[in-house]
Amino acid sequence: MRPLVLARFTMLSPFTHAQDVLTVASPGGTLRLTFTLDTDGVPTYRVDRLGRPIVLPSRMGVALREGPSFTEGLSCVGSEQRTTDETWETVWGETRRIRNHYRELTVRLATPGNPAREMGIVFRVYDGGLGFRYEWPAQPALGAFAIVDEQTEFRFTGDHTAWWIPAYRDHRYEYLYQETPLATLDTVHTPLTMRSAEGLYLSLHEAALWDYASMALAHTAENTLRADLVPWADGVKVYGQTPFASPWRTLQVSDTPGGLVTDYLLLNLNEPNKLEDVSWIEPGKYAGIWWGMHVGTMTWHSGPRHGATTENTRRYIDFAARHGFKGVLAEGWNVGWDQQWWNGEGDRFRFSEPMPDFDIEVLAQYARAKGVRLVGHHETGAAIDNYEAQMDSAFAYAAAHGMNTVKTGYVGSRLTGGGARQWHHGQYGVRHYNKCVLAAARHQIMLDIHEPIKDTGLRRTYPNLMTREGARGMEYDAWSNDGGNPPSHHALLPFTRSLAGPFDYTPGVLAFFYPEKPGNRVNMTTAKALALYVTIYSPLHMVAGLPEDLEKHPALRFIEEVPTDWDTTLVPHGEVGRYATFARKDRRSDDWYVGSVTDDTGRVLSLPLYFLDPARAYVAEIWADAPETDWKTNPEPFVYREEAVTAQTVLELRLAPGGGCALRIRP
Ligand code: NOJ
Repeated sequence: MRPLVLARFTMLSPFTHAQDVLTVASPGGTLRLTFTLDTDGVPTYRVDRLGRPIVLPSRMGVALREGPSFTEGLSCVGSEQRTTDETWETVWGETRRIRNHYRELTVRLATPGNPAREMGIVFRVYDGGLGFRYEWPAQPALGAFAIVDEQTEFRFTGDHTAWWIPAYRDHRYEYLYQETPLATLDTVHTPLTMRSAEGLYLSLHEAALWDYASMALAHTAENTLRADLVPWADGVKVYGQTPFASPWRTLQVSDTPGGLVTDYLLLNLNEPNKLEDVSWIEPGKYAGIWWGMHVGTMTWHSGPRHGATTENTRRYIDFAARHGFKGVLAEGWNVGWDQQWWNGEGDRFRFSEPMPDFDIEVLAQYARAKGVRLVGHHETGAAIDNYEAQMDSAFAYAAAHGMNTVKTGYVGSRLTGGGARQWHHGQYGVRHYNKCVLAAARHQIMLDIHEPIKDTGLRRTYPNLMTREGARGMEYDAWSNDGGNPPSHHALLPFTRSLAGPFDYTPGVLAFFYPEKPGNRVNMTTAKALALYVTIYSPLHMVAGLPEDLEKHPALRFIEEVPTDWDTTLVPHGEVGRYATFARKDRRSDDWYVGSVTDDTGRVLSLPLYFLDPARAYVAEIWADAPETDWKTNPEPFVYREEAVTAQTVLELRLAPGGGCALRIRP
């Protein structure tokens, strides 16, 4: 550590103190962070990129319920700066190796009074973005405390175009993304993606949300957003106990939307893997008794159409075994679905008690013999006390039946627990979700969380935290009364929701119309349905369609082949909400996979295959929209062709309106 020289400016009056200014630049000099403690002792920061402002001087600070707060009248009692440059390997992910190269500035601030209270602000500045967080060391003047407000502001330089979903709504993160000017925002969730008039792309989010409220963003003035911490039912934002730290507030800046995707700031700001043995963690694909309930041919509850019966589950196990899918989910397997579980009766769920027509012993044995894993399902109906009382035994029960993955669910507009109704995204919820990750890890269980807290990169620290929902998934096409996810949704997801981390969209539906749901249909083309396996990253991807539909479809071959764990990820094309092309190299072979998706507009995108090994010849297997394909009027037609290619080849990808293109490129 080397001490930094503080720039001290003239004393103004006996009642004010000198202004402290500290700066730190990213390793390559692209970003510069300037911290200022003004003459009233108010902390602010600004961010410049290549000499131009990105964030104008913006306020920082945290207000406590009792005693002196960290908002004004502060003095700077020290600072340090250091550089880190290391490269680490992911257990699984969209890339194998990640460089973590940043300059760090720590500023130590003290409140007036004796003894003073201390708080640090730590900035980590990378070439592609920065993170900062508040830290409270163990200290005599501050033990347990309650945060009532975080004053972190983000004053942007213009009325940027923003892509956002609203916060504080009953359907959690499940809204369609809106594209509007920044100045029209109310309170929104992160990650928030923006584009400046100059064409810079920004993403505002947070990393390492472990024991804190999640941060929404409130629009407070012209081009200014402010941290809005999701409160407890009693109004407090965060309960802390020193030593304590906030999550990192993160800002990524890139010249392209794809640059936001291939920058691993969030993961870098999380702590390294804490699980010693990761040999049991296995990315892969899973089928399941699931889509049938959403399209109305099966039920979760008991009765003549109950989906999770012994016989039906056996059929799905056979299907998975035939096609090399690792898991089979059976929703509706346990006691609790016959009540109004979505409406306050989630406390009737039992997580170690199968329905009478689901013979778990027989199925566990059958799955084992077929080399397939049952995937557990814990729908909680958001009844947290009920779930936490059973959580440990529920994971033990799952493990004892050969399950190495559990999908959890929290349907409901609030979590209920401890006698109160709480937002999913406040500290109460954050603590619950994280408790669950640890409990699952103790039983060597991977997690797939639906109705989750947003991802903030904790998968680096706990790599059993595989994937989650947290956006509108495939199911909306089955039943949403607004008609489901429009084609632009698939071109928005990679540059909004997916910047947070893996998304269990549950792709793999190749039949688009269902008589039981006459008002709905699947809003894409066959080639797009395949491309989603590449454009949406998830280490666990579902093969959501009904086996009988998939097995008669030649494109099932692509779904069998496409991996879910990657060595490298590139984004050759991207315009937020318009189109996206991803190229990813398989972690276990020399194959590349490409997925391209478009909104309602058909496009011809030219794709240079520069990423291939120049010394090798390849075959491209191309699943494309047919000339007559249109997601709206004629979604099914596709053409398959094979083409000899090299690193010099430039392929023309033709995407129908609402369509896509999927490629496997093998040596
Ligand atoms: C909502 C989840 O997103 C979905 O996947 C699940 O089938 C239902 N809840 C029931 O748990």
